[in-house]
Amino acid sequence: MDLYTLLKPLLFRLDPETAHRLTLAALDRLAALGPLNPLRQPRIELPVEVMGLRFPNPVGLAAGLDKNGDHIRGLASLGFGFIEVGTVTPRPQPGNPPPRLFRLPEAEALINRMGFNNLGVDHLVANLQHLGARDFVLGVNLGKNKDTPQEQAADDYRIGLEKVYCLADYVTINISSPNTPGLRDLQHGQALEGLLAALDRQRERLSRRHGKRLPIAVKIAPDLSEAQLGAQAELFRRYRMDAVIATNTTLDHSPVAHLPHGQETGGLSGRPLKEKATEVVRRLHRHLGDGIPIIACGGILSPQDGLEKFEAGARLIQLYTGLIYRGPALVREILLTLKAAGGGDARGIRPPAGACCRTNPDRSGNRGA
Ligand SMILES: Cc1cc2nc3c(=O)[nH]c(=O)nc-3n(C[C@H](O)[C@H](O)[C@H](O)COP(=O)(O)O)c2cc1C
Repeated sequence: MDLYTLLKPLLFRLDPETAHRLTLAALDRLAALGPLNPLRQPRIELPVEVMGLRFPNPVGLAAGLDKNGDHIRGLASLGFGFIEVGTVTPRPQPGNPPPRLFRLPEAEALINRMGFNNLGVDHLVANLQHLGARDFVLGVNLGKNKDTPQEQAADDYRIGLEKVYCLADYVTINISSPNTPGLRDLQHGQALEGLLAALDRQRERLSRRHGKRLPIAVKIAPDLSEAQLGAQAELFRRYRMDAVIATNTTLDHSPVAHLPHGQETGGLSGRPLKEKATEVVRRLHRHLGDGIPIIACGGILSPQDGLEKFEAGARLIQLYTGLIYRGPALVREILLTLKAAGGGDARGIRPPAGACCRTNPDRSGNRGA
């Protein structure tokens, strides 16, 4: 029995946010022990190239667990090939009042209405500036502040993009969290087109300034019709998005409505989301083909769940709720299964692009060599 399995009954007696905080603090302490870290295992290498980046393996941490980038080293010690921090917003904001995170153990699910509680992009930037050398891919997930008017949403994403441009390997545009009023409306029609066009232009400007093109992924909801998915795919192609993350949490609580907390307001994640999210990957892959890679997320609680996402067309996968219910050993179990199934590829491998910015990320305006 591993350490997490022993500790889980104790952690599950605590309020979920306290349990998260304690677990992350313990991970950081263990990671600081370096080679003496009892959780440390040689990372399983299964290289894949996606968005022009070399991922040491295709299993990543989904956004939301480390919103401020305070625990990157501890989380990386679990063997992930990539870590996505955030969602961060331009200005700090407290999020919704607690309680805002609920466990549904019978369904191996969570419902959250955190509401982008975060310390703001500048706090994250300071953390990333001190991160030092790393051997995993780092994504930064960007959002808008709750009190930014909807018509100015694109400005919030542009601020985030500019601030992390030289520190991240890719950014994710989060337009699918259900807990910021109006955010999901950015997934459709003119609102989506306006946002993507603004980001494409901003990226063009920044890539000229810094001599590197930062890949942009867009994270979508699982609650989309076929017509909406088709329309999105068309716009993602037109505005040169580099990946789609499918999916965020669902607003459909019907599979858990009979359980304690099943009707809490918020997004549902974990096992009840799996089929729905995999179906979105499958349908999106039909629309996008291999032109824009899909990063699958939602309900991965076992190696088999991970395999199903790849079979549906994903190139990479991400986990969140699975870690809470199955513990950190899940990362290694999935990777061993993928390795046995012949996963990974060795095509055109390049180092993460984060290292090649021409200017310092201090935005002094000085041009480098
Ligand atoms: C407590 C909690 C907070 C989350 N916060 C974010 C967030 O800030 N940004 C984001 O893009 N997704 C966020 N998510 C969604 C996850 O990244 C993921 O898309 C979703 O939970 C489905 O994956 P899972 O079933 O493996 O958890 C959050 C999920 C949970 C459970």
